[in-house]
Amino acid sequence: PHSGHDGGAAAPGLSVDLLRGPAASAAGGPAGARPRVRRFTLTARPAVVRLASGTVDAWSFDGQVPGPVLRVRQGDLVEVVLRNRLPGQAVTVHWHGYDVPSGEDGVPGVTQDAVAPGQAHVYRFRAEDAGTYWYHSHQDSSVAVPRGLFGLLVVDPAVPLPESEDHLLALHTFGTRPTLSVDGAAPVDGLARLALPPGARARLRVVNTDTRPVVLGLAGAPYTIAAVDGGDVPGATDLDGARLHLAAGGRYDLTFTVPSGPVLLTAGDRPALLVNGPSAPPAAAGPIVDITRYGAATAPPARFDQEITWVLDKTLAMAGGLPKLAQTVNGKAWPNIPAPVVRLGQTVRITVVNRGTDTHPMHPHGHHVRILSRNGVPATGLAMDTFDVAPGEVWEVALTADNPGMWMSHCHDLAHAAQGMEFHLAYE
Ligand code: C2O
Ligand code: CU
Repeated sequence: PHSGHDGGAAAPGLSVDLLRGPAASAAGGPAGARPRVRRFTLTARPAVVRLASGTVDAWSFDGQVPGPVLRVRQGDLVEVVLRNRLPGQAVTVHWHGYDVPSGEDGVPGVTQDAVAPGQAHVYRFRAEDAGTYWYHSHQDSSVAVPRGLFGLLVVDPAVPLPESEDHLLALHTFGTRPTLSVDGAAPVDGLARLALPPGARARLRVVNTDTRPVVLGLAGAPYTIAAVDGGDVPGATDLDGARLHLAAGGRYDLTFTVPSGPVLLTAGDRPALLVNGPSAPPAAAGPIVDITRYGAATAPPARFDQEITWVLDKTLAMAGGLPKLAQTVNGKAWPNIPAPVVRLGQTVRITVVNRGTDTHPMHPHGHHVRILSRNGVPATGLAMDTFDVAPGEVWEVALTADNPGMWMSHCHDLAHAAQGMEFHLAYE
């Protein structure tokens, strides 16, 4: 199931320094080991997606939605050539959740120019953090991502799981049609199916590529939340019938032992994936897990060099004589939100207050934040790249300024971002 283009050979464009320099040998596995270069090409072009309910005129990478699964191994040097063959639509690639160097982040107008039709751009980064990520265009993203310009990115650990135990699920909605794609295959808008050997372990990497949160349920087997937003989570085990709130853009890796009976994954009230049918067990109806109760292997920062507050709200602003909805941070909308400025090495506490009536999946690029508290209840430092702040909620998160550059931070309800809820995070 691990499809995608497999380069493997050294890319001709790479300099010898990049392959042999001290940074290369420091980052990739055993001392002196040369990193593998993995080379991919993604071509943005129109495609027709066939669903049971009819066809969708999509925008795609390589003619498929989701785009090719980019599957690499920890320590690999990843090189992706983006070519644009979409008539009249510029594109970029942003590596959602993978904290690349700023220049590779794929944000038009900030880290690169958008790639015009007929043009190309090359991204290079080293894959150091194993986990489940995704990629999507960041140009006109509130239109481009729902239309299909996204795909999945997996960084395998040095010793990967056997393919038969490792599966990818992408949840997406075309217009009003929710779909599910298994292992990068074409999406289905009915029930997707997977056959797994009873008694074996299974890992389901679930990616929410939508602009709205989804409540997941897994019924038929007790399960473990092995990872959130790419990072391992210890202790979230033996969840039986519990449901999970997955933010727009967020990922959960769920593991379980395949039982002799069927397993059902629901997305909202929709049966989405049936493992080992033919009949489905009753949908999970347990409580929704508060994921912020779970932490990470290391404690979050406890002292802060800087305090920042983001008050999220919306307002009607006049534009061209007409009232226009603006989603705001501290009372202002893009491009008038002042950029928070951090210094390399600082730890920053960000307090996020939602005074509006919409849920805001906040996504700071280039950094995972550690969750310190939610609504006054201390959390244990879970690392997330997209955290969903519901109306009335207050989240405190810690950001360690360890990735210098100019970054976007925005709401991943991409319509909200287009309505102004996006701003820069700058390093001085
Ligand atoms: Cu999925 Cu600006 O990102
Ligand atoms: Cu929002």
